[in-house]
Amino acid sequence: MKIIIINGPNLNLLGKREPEIYGAETFQDFFSNLQFKFKNIELEYFQSNIEGELVSKLQEVGFDYDGIILNAAAYTHTSIAIGDAVKAITTPVIEVHISNTFGREEFRHQSYISPGAKGVILGFGLQSYDLAITSFIE
Ligand code: DQA
Repeated sequence: MKIIIINGPNLNLLGKREPEIYGAETFQDFFSNLQFKFKNIELEYFQSNIEGELVSKLQEVGFDYDGIILNAAAYTHTSIAIGDAVKAITTPVIEVHISNTFGREEFRHQSYISPGAKGVILGFGLQSYDLAITSFIE
């Protein structure tokens, strides 16, 4: 089973970015633990701050991987292009967010990703990614 985590803008700063919201752990550390925990699956990670690169990655992996876990970060709330890419591909996408976006500013309540997603997991911190992998496996 092949699963990729795709992270959008500013998520490369996890660990130092607003730790009261996003926690103190770097994604690299968290990802190493995930790979250890889910040894039986091929788990990949891609991050970009650039909208078009996220679209291209979704197109590249979106027809033969078994699952995509997508945290489009701020592009969630703005990007018709990423939303369209999620609808265009055949690999199921689980939308994840670290924070509970519905408990935050109004502009974070809108998602262009959700309409094309298989499901949405949010508000569980980095564990949101873990839950998404488990959901693909089960
Ligand atoms: C986020 C929530 C978004 O609103 C925000 O722009 C992010 C991270 C989250 O994981 O909680 O960058 O996607």
